[in-house]
Amino acid sequence: MLKLNIILISYYRIIELISLMAMVNCLIVGHGAREHVIGETLVKGGANLFSFMSFKNAGLEDLSKKIKIHSESDFKEIIGFCKENKIDFAVIGPEAPLVVGIVDALEKGGIPCIGPKIEAAQLEGSKVFTRNLLEKYKIKSNVKNKIFESMDGIERFIKDMGEENVVVKPEGLTGGKGVKVYGDHLSSKADILEYCQELTNNNNRFLLEEKCIGEEFTLQTFVDGKTVLGSPLVQDHKRAYEDDKGPNTGGMGSYSMEDHLMPFITQKDVNIALEDMKKTVAAVKTETGTEYKGFLYGQFMKTAKGLKLIEYNSRFGDPEAMNVLPLLQGNLVDICWSIINGNLSQNFEFEKKATVCKYLAPEGYPANPKRDEQIIINREEINKSGAKYYYASVYRESGKIFTTTSRAMGVLGIADSLEKAERIAEKGVTCIEGNLFHRKDIGTLKLLQKRIEHMNSLLIE
Ligand code: AMP
Ligand code: GLY
Repeated sequence: MLKLNIILISYYRIIELISLMAMVNCLIVGHGAREHVIGETLVKGGANLFSFMSFKNAGLEDLSKKIKIHSESDFKEIIGFCKENKIDFAVIGPEAPLVVGIVDALEKGGIPCIGPKIEAAQLEGSKVFTRNLLEKYKIKSNVKNKIFESMDGIERFIKDMGEENVVVKPEGLTGGKGVKVYGDHLSSKADILEYCQELTNNNNRFLLEEKCIGEEFTLQTFVDGKTVLGSPLVQDHKRAYEDDKGPNTGGMGSYSMEDHLMPFITQKDVNIALEDMKKTVAAVKTETGTEYKGFLYGQFMKTAKGLKLIEYNSRFGDPEAMNVLPLLQGNLVDICWSIINGNLSQNFEFEKKATVCKYLAPEGYPANPKRDEQIIINREEINKSGAKYYYASVYRESGKIFTTTSRAMGVLGIADSLEKAERIAEKGVTCIEGNLFHRKDIGTLKLLQKRIEHMNSLLIE
C-alpha cells in the first residue's frame, strides 16, 4: 500500500512539474531563422511561445500562441505585450536591440531577459571597447590594433605592420559589411588610405588591426554572469559562391562535427578559447560593474601564432544557432532560468551528431536579390528526407511563401557523420522550389579537406 502511495505521489509530482513547465510564457524578440530555431527549442522545452518581431516569420507564427509585428526597438510596446501576455522571460535574438538597451528597459519593466544589458553588449556593439578590454586584461587571443579618429598615425601603423597585414574595422555595428581585409577587399596601401579617409570624413572611429591567417570557428556559449558553458564548434561560410568566391554575405551555411570539434581544432584549442571567453566575462564585470548574461558568441581563428579572437557577438549566430540548438539534450527553458538566476550548471549535453546547414538565397543575392518570387516547399518530401527547415527573410501571403532581399530558408541535415548530414541537407534543398541558389560545397568532405590542408600548411611553415 505504502509503495503504491509513493508511486502515485511521484506520478502526480511529475505531472505537476510537467504542467508547471508548460506554463512558462516565453517571449522571443526577432524575426529570422535564428529566432525560429530558438523558438522551436523553447517550445520543445515546454514553453508557451510569444513572438515580437518587426517582420512576420512564418515559422514563429506557427509555433506561437500570439505574435506582434512591430519595431524590435520599441521597448515600451514590447513591455506592454509582455504584461498583456504574462510573459515570464524574454529571449532577445538579434544584436540591434541589445546594443541599444532592450534588456535594461525590459528588466526595469519587470521582465527578466536572456541577453546582456547595454554595457555588457558593447562586446559586440563596440570593437574599440572589446579590443581595449582584451588589452587591459591581458587576454591572449587579442591581436595588435590601434584606434583612429583621423588620418594621424595611419601611415606609421601601416608601415609597422606591413600593408598586406592590415584589416580596417569601423566602430559600431556594420551588419558584417564594414570590415575590410587586405587581400580580400583592399589590394594596396592606397586602398587602405582611401577607406580610412572615407571613415574619417564620416566622423567614424575605426580600428586598424593585424590581419590573421588561419581557419575560423565559432564557439557559442551560455553565460549567467560568471559561468560560461560551451556548445559544439561550428564553421560558417561568409562568401556567396562555391569555393569561397564572391562577395561577403550574412553567412551561406555552416557545419559542425559529431565530436563537437573541427578536424583542425583540438580540444586544447577549445579550452583556450573558452578560458579567454571566461576571462572576458569576468573583465566585463570588473570594468563596467555589469554582469554579462545571455548567449556569447566567440569567433576565433587558429593561426600559426596561436588562437586569435576575431570578434564577439552578444547573441547566438545565424546560421550557427541552427547547428547547435537542435542537438541540445536538455531543456532550453531551464537553461534560461538558470541564466536569469545565476546558477547555470553543466546539466545538459549536445547529441554527438554532425550537422550541415545550407542557406537558400534569392538569385542575385547579395547585390541584386530577386524579391517577391514565390517559393514552394514540398513539406511531405522534405519531412521524408529527414531535413529540417527554418524560415529566414521570407513572407507568407495567402498561404504562399515569397522571397525578400535577404537569405530565404535554412535547411539542416543532422546525422552520425558529416557526409550523411550533408546528403540530408542537399536532399532537403531539392524539396524547395524557387528562384533560389545555395552553396553545394558547404559540409562536403572536399571542402573540409581543403580547410585541413590549409591549416596544416600554416602549422608546418
Ligand atoms: P567581423 O565583422 O569582425 O566578424 O569581420 C568580418 C570578417 O572579416 C570575419 O569573419 C573575418 O573573416 C574577417 N576578419 C575580421 N577581423 C580579421 C582579422 N583581424 N584578421 C583576418 N580576418 C579578419
Ligand atoms: N554567422 C555570423 C553571425 O551570426 O554573426
